Amino acid sequence: MDLIAALDSLVPELEKGLEQAHTLDALEGLRVDMLGRKGRIARIMAALPTLEPSERPQVGQKANSVKERCNALFDARKAELEREQEEIALRLFDPTAPGRAPWRGTLHPDTLVTEEICRIFQGLGFTVASGPEVEIDHYNFEALNIPPEHPARDMQDTLYITESVLMRTHTSPVQVRTMLAAKPPLAVVAPGKVYRRDSDLTHTPMFHQIEGLMVGYGISMAHLRGTLTAFVRAVFGLGTKVRFRPSFFPFTEPSAEVDISCCICGGQGHVDGQPCRVCKTTGWVEILGCGMVDPAVYAAVGYPEDVSGFAFGMGVERVAMLKYGIGDLRMFFENDVRFLGQFAG
Ligand code: DAH
Repeated sequence: MDLIAALDSLVPELEKGLEQAHTLDALEGLRVDMLGRKGRIARIMAALPTLEPSERPQVGQKANSVKERCNALFDARKAELEREQEEIALRLFDPTAPGRAPWRGTLHPDTLVTEEICRIFQGLGFTVASGPEVEIDHYNFEALNIPPEHPARDMQDTLYITESVLMRTHTSPVQVRTMLAAKPPLAVVAPGKVYRRDSDLTHTPMFHQIEGLMVGYGISMAHLRGTLTAFVRAVFGLGTKVRFRPSFFPFTEPSAEVDISCCICGGQGHVDGQPCRVCKTTGWVEILGCGMVDPAVYAAVGYPEDVSGFAFGMGVERVAMLKYGIGDLRMFFENDVRFLGQFAG
């Protein structure tokens, strides 16, 4: 009978096909082709109604036994393929290969420099203080001897929240808060974020400063000079030269800016015959502002007239850029792990 012969011929054909199937995908293709709803067996069985009713049971039985045989062949080949793939995987797996090192976070250069600076001043007897980033006008300006018409108050520079509340534009208001809360003698450094309405290549709306304040009795400019010289040499190396330049700040009198010998060109003004871009060939870079606390500030916090002391303030990003030779301020705020990862301690 034709149909029986057709069904019988499927088994050897499948055996040949299975030998050439080397993936589970190929195997599944063969299975659909043979046993699927529109597969070879189904197509042969579609002819069943054309047979004499008496012949049908025999063909039906044959079809079932061929199906069973095919299923058994598929199962066997599938088990074989799975075993083969497992063996390959085991052969490729090298238990002695070193693992991938897990990514460990690193401290941001701002954090590293802030911690280093605070540690240095703690070693000199200072304690660490802090104040709010949202500050009242009085502490940010008025009590620091910055009168209402002062240019630093310009709306251009300050982010106001209300008429009398603002984002602090410097860490100097922590001086005021410290003196209102404690009697002299005292010595504090205050690190923190400050805000300005400023955004270009060399200015960001938020950056970090560290403020310093020492108030007591008989404190002179010599103490200021000695303290800041010791600080600069601890951060930039013992060979660093320090220069104090007269300057002006409303809350100090006299005031100075401190320059250090350029740590990029070693104060030479040139690197490998090229003009130094950091110090613009001068051999000096500005690092901080400082001075003797103005009597008007003591008056604002109710201190007696016979106290004396000094204050200073510096930009953390600026110190970090000089210390690590970072050329672009934006690096600090982009959080590119390729940049940050270089500061792993
Ligand atoms: N507050 C100043 C600024 O943001 C920096 C500064 C200068 C702070 C002199 C001081 C100081 O304490 O004495 O530019």
